Amino acid sequence: MGSTAIHTIDGADGRRCEIRVGRGLANADNLIVREVANVAVLTQPAVAALAELVADQARRDRTSSAHVRILPDGEAAKNLTTVEHVYEWLNSLGFTRSDLVIGVGGGALTDLAGFAAATYLRGVDVVYLPTSLLGAVDASIGGKTGVNVGGKNLAGVFRHPSRVIVDLDLLDEIPGALRREGAAEAVKAGFIADRAIVDEYESNGIAASLDVVVPAAIAVKVHAVTADFREKGLRAILNYGHTIGHAIEVAGSISHGEAVAIGMVAAGAISEEMLGFPHAARQRTIIEHLGLPVVAPAVDVELVATLMGRDKKRDAAGIRMVLLEDFGRPVLRHVAEGQIATGLAAVGVALG
Ligand SMILES: NC(=O)c1ccc[n+]([C@@H]2O[C@H](COP(=O)([O-])OP(=O)(O)OC[C@H]3O[C@@H](n4cnc5c(N)ncnc54)[C@H](O)[C@@H]3O)[C@@H](O)[C@H]2O)c1
Ligand SMILES: [Zn+2]
Repeated sequence: MGSTAIHTIDGADGRRCEIRVGRGLANADNLIVREVANVAVLTQPAVAALAELVADQARRDRTSSAHVRILPDGEAAKNLTTVEHVYEWLNSLGFTRSDLVIGVGGGALTDLAGFAAATYLRGVDVVYLPTSLLGAVDASIGGKTGVNVGGKNLAGVFRHPSRVIVDLDLLDEIPGALRREGAAEAVKAGFIADRAIVDEYESNGIAASLDVVVPAAIAVKVHAVTADFREKGLRAILNYGHTIGHAIEVAGSISHGEAVAIGMVAAGAISEEMLGFPHAARQRTIIEHLGLPVVAPAVDVELVATLMGRDKKRDAAGIRMVLLEDFGRPVLRHVAEGQIATGLAAVGVALG
């Protein structure tokens, strides 16, 4: 059903990444990119059955040896201890540089699988099968891998997977909270670069067609990272909603998607004040209808201010934020403290 969109990204290291987006794609033929002796599938408990299926298919059709390792769930497992367990497991399988790792899971799993693969034997090929909406439209695309070491994603490398298979069939049934997490990033892609995504979410809320929003959001991210792999210029537009969002995420202990939702409302208000962005109220309504928060939880205001001061988007001249002149017209601007206060006030945080 439907068509398959294919993107390719040429990594700075000369390796090519191919991204396939469509339905009915999660099979060994798509996942195993070339002849291999060993396939090592890394996964997380929620989707282990899918990983076993992939390994069974691989053994039946493609290779004599396919193994599955179920790692502990999510963010808590995205650390160097788990990476070491993966290295030891690969070693015990007699894994070589010509073998293949497949990561089946959400963003935490693919970040971890990507990091382990990028560093084991100085880099082995990895393929991602993202199973969360956030993984599909964001984490699996763009070549950032990483693990948490004290701070989130503090250790990592840039290295694209050989292939990413985004099978929309897998995303149809994901739980509501997980869908909202991904919708925050997908609608962000719409706000910065594609009105079709905005229109679809505006019309249908969280029930928006995945066939419309997922391929479009992936295209936005592919374009941003292709034009600029190492986070200058264009890639930075992907941080829309993330400057204030990150601070609220940490200070308010809320999920990333919720924080980005709040951060976009704040950035929308600043955009309205500084650039005459005409859709701040409309953007807020769209976000609210997705079931995402538009007001911050109770937070320590001092902590928010401190965290924003530390944000990596800060330079000598102050905090730089992605703002919108219109939907699809993002700009990077230095934002003065008074304007930050405007943004925070729009989400219910009063700076002292
Ligand atoms: N590399 C990047 O550029 C990038 C970009 C954005 C986010 N990320 C990372 O992505 C992670 C967040 O992504 P996430 O929310 O997908 O993480 P996750 O892997 O922790 O998944 C969230 C939860 O959903 C479960 N899950 C996954 N697929 C499911 C399915 N089909 N059905 C039911 N449950 C399922 C997981 O087991 C987990 O409990 C963070 O670690 C973040 O740092 C990376
Ligand atoms: Zn994000």
